[in-house]
Amino acid sequence: MCGVVGYVGDRDCTDVLINALSKLEYRGYDSAGIAVFERNKIVVEKCQGKLKNLVTKLESEHKPLGHCGIGHTRWATHGEPSDINSHPHGNKRVTIVHNGIIENYRQLKDFLSNEGYSFESQTDTETVAKLLDYYYDGNPLDTITKVVTEIEGSYALGIIFRDFPDTIFAVRKDSPLIVGLGENENFIASDVPAILKYTKNYYLLEQDEIAIIKKDRVKVYDVHHNLLNKEVMVADWDINSAEKCGYEHFMLKEIHEQPTAITNTVSPRVFDGMPNLEECGITVDYLKGISRLFIVACGTAMHAGIVGKYVIEDLARVPVTVDMASEFIYRNPIIDSSDLVILISQSGETADTKSALKLAKQCGAKTLSIVNVVGSSIARESDMVIYTHAGPEISVASTKAYSVQLAIMYLIAFELSYAKEKISLDACKEYTSKLMDIPNLITETLEHKNICQKIASKIMNATSLLYIGRGLDYALSMEGSLKLKELSYIHSEAYASGELKHGTISLVDDEMPVIAVATQDRLFDKTISNIKEVKARGAKVILVCKESANVDDDIADYIIRIPATDNILMPMITTVPLQLIAYYTAVHRGNNVDQPRNLAKSVTVE
Ligand code: F6R
Repeated sequence: MCGVVGYVGDRDCTDVLINALSKLEYRGYDSAGIAVFERNKIVVEKCQGKLKNLVTKLESEHKPLGHCGIGHTRWATHGEPSDINSHPHGNKRVTIVHNGIIENYRQLKDFLSNEGYSFESQTDTETVAKLLDYYYDGNPLDTITKVVTEIEGSYALGIIFRDFPDTIFAVRKDSPLIVGLGENENFIASDVPAILKYTKNYYLLEQDEIAIIKKDRVKVYDVHHNLLNKEVMVADWDINSAEKCGYEHFMLKEIHEQPTAITNTVSPRVFDGMPNLEECGITVDYLKGISRLFIVACGTAMHAGIVGKYVIEDLARVPVTVDMASEFIYRNPIIDSSDLVILISQSGETADTKSALKLAKQCGAKTLSIVNVVGSSIARESDMVIYTHAGPEISVASTKAYSVQLAIMYLIAFELSYAKEKISLDACKEYTSKLMDIPNLITETLEHKNICQKIASKIMNATSLLYIGRGLDYALSMEGSLKLKELSYIHSEAYASGELKHGTISLVDDEMPVIAVATQDRLFDKTISNIKEVKARGAKVILVCKESANVDDDIADYIIRIPATDNILMPMITTVPLQLIAYYTAVHRGNNVDQPRNLAKSVTVE
């Protein structure tokens, strides 16, 4: 939800800002803008649409030349995407970029209007810019402090004052912001990929810390203006992780990165063939005492939780409740200090998941987060954290993050089942070893690209699709369906195949393709019967099953046979063809795969 960047140093500031913004476009792409000091004056260039529109504007009109400035890529909340609503906002004295939401902006706007200020945009951000101007007394630190005590909501702010043409000021609350530390140059950014080309060292700004950033030094103060001694973090993501490296889209690259991502996530947590999550604070003794679990997350991450529920309940016999974070926080859930609440989040910044974490803590529950972005809010605020090592996920549609979230679900399920004496040491080792073999099977599965491409060409003109399956296949289908929807803009729904005949089958006709997932041996024949039912109603059927499945070729119009492993682990393989089908359908329809319409990767608003 909006990307914020800033640069001060000897390079061409505009070039650095554009490059940094290009790595944050996944956070929003409704408009982009920059503000750069040109001969001590703040020059703002901004426009609606993707970053490339801004680049074209800079090339054809005016490219600010300078060495200090801020930039923004927007996901609109307050006010439609337009030139006027694009950031930066402000005036000749103070200009800002903002990620977050100012909840009391109406009151502030009324107050400032009474003080004689007028407003151009419909944004909440403009009130912060004007409030800074209102309080500005020549001392930016005092001014920012006054403003942050008056604004309510979330913010990561990059601020420049005309009187300080070599300095960026930054402050954050509930929206992420880092300060990149280079050699005689420094940066601000909403996320690490923006600075990777220039440096791997950075400070994580904590709540309400104020940073004063010059090219040769960075000072960070707390709200009481105490100078802080910040720990330098070192990003372990390499520069290639934020580049396409020859792939047409980040999504395709990230689908292919899944084997490595899973190995990086699982291997460090396996000792002597057994899962071991002790470094994250989870011991066998602790697991023994768990009597029920809650998993709370949004979107794809929640779908990983649903697979987790099936696996944990099946193997460990521990009841698991899975909630969408946006529902959890308003349904008055019954949890207490004996419960473990697991929050899953790629970004670690999702507003609803953050609120769920807060609620779980208020109820006294123990919290464990499964997070990809190191140092993100959810990771820092939960009692225990397991980092997934997927590397940066740039494509808005999540793929490799989902796979590594699943991998962690399995590690927890195996260790918990062992702790609860539901499986033996040997069985636990065997499951773990099969999990470690998944990357090889995914590599093999990726060879099925062509059939997925062909299927995509057949379904690309459908207006609606069904995904059907039972048990784990159903849980996995939810993710397949979400992927198709968000990328292709074709409506689809995942349905438990056994439930079809209770109503939904009336939708089925020869216009509605059905993707049937049947990888669970125990349920295979039942799903095949359901396939026959939809075929009898004219549906074109695509079947995803194990290579070894004993099924006639004419049972479906297309069959994708994927490598087999233990039934319980099949979702890790099955997800791949579903990702590829969604990917190629979007490509065939000419959609923007990495940046689907109306979406942003890090959803930091409720
Ligand atoms: C879909 C997708 C979203 C996210 C969801 C949660 O492809 O990426 O559904 O999974 O917005 O985001 P995180 O995991 O960052 O909390």
